[in-house]
Amino acid sequence: MDLYEAIRERRSIRKFKKRAVTKDLLEKIFDIALWAPSGMNRQNWKFFVLAGERKEELISIAAHSFEYLEPELQKRFADKPKIVEATRRFFKRLGGAPVVVCAYFEPANTEDVTSFQNVAAAIQNLLLVAYAEGLGSCWMTGPVTVAEEISHFLRVGDMTLVAVIPMGYPDDTPKIPPRRPDRVAYQGFE
Ligand SMILES: Cc1cc2nc3c(=O)[nH]c(=O)nc-3n(C[C@H](O)[C@H](O)[C@H](O)COP(=O)(O)O)c2cc1C
Repeated sequence: MDLYEAIRERRSIRKFKKRAVTKDLLEKIFDIALWAPSGMNRQNWKFFVLAGERKEELISIAAHSFEYLEPELQKRFADKPKIVEATRRFFKRLGGAPVVVCAYFEPANTEDVTSFQNVAAAIQNLLLVAYAEGLGSCWMTGPVTVAEEISHFLRVGDMTLVAVIPMGYPDDTPKIPPRRPDRVAYQGFE
């Protein structure tokens, strides 16, 4: 798939088909996605990829994060209650995703601005490669509000949770959110 097309056409998917995703395909996707840049080439990301019963348990832990997010959502979407309800439904089962990825960096240090960006670069690669392979995904920081519970469940030691990413074959065609104008300022050009 053309890179320009992948960047433009990838959407956040919040409803997935039941169809399983093979471990072979996930390995192929991660092999490419991890060719991301990283500060001082630390490559200090770590991805936990869950399916089956482990994934179901993770989803039930992550679902609790909605309780923390709800007041903020109610405020931000006061005039759009449907969005709040759709988000509530999505968090309950993460859209029925057959795979959930938890993205971390090591060692744990929530002040580590470079490590956050290292993981973010790899996540964007991951989303694009997954899309090129026919998969949908949704980059989520909402579940980070229950990071302690998630890390305990995964038996993660000295690491920081950056995002949770449900993944699978899409069962949804989301609207294309328009781009905000004037987000780039050029200086010094003729
Ligand atoms: C850092 C980050 C955090 C996000 N967290 C959430 C989240 O917790 N829940 C959610 O439903 N979507 C989340 N999203 C997805 C955004 O809502 C989505 O990217 C945005 O609305 C644009 O839509 P698009 O991805 O289809 O272009 C997140 C995206 C990013 C980059």
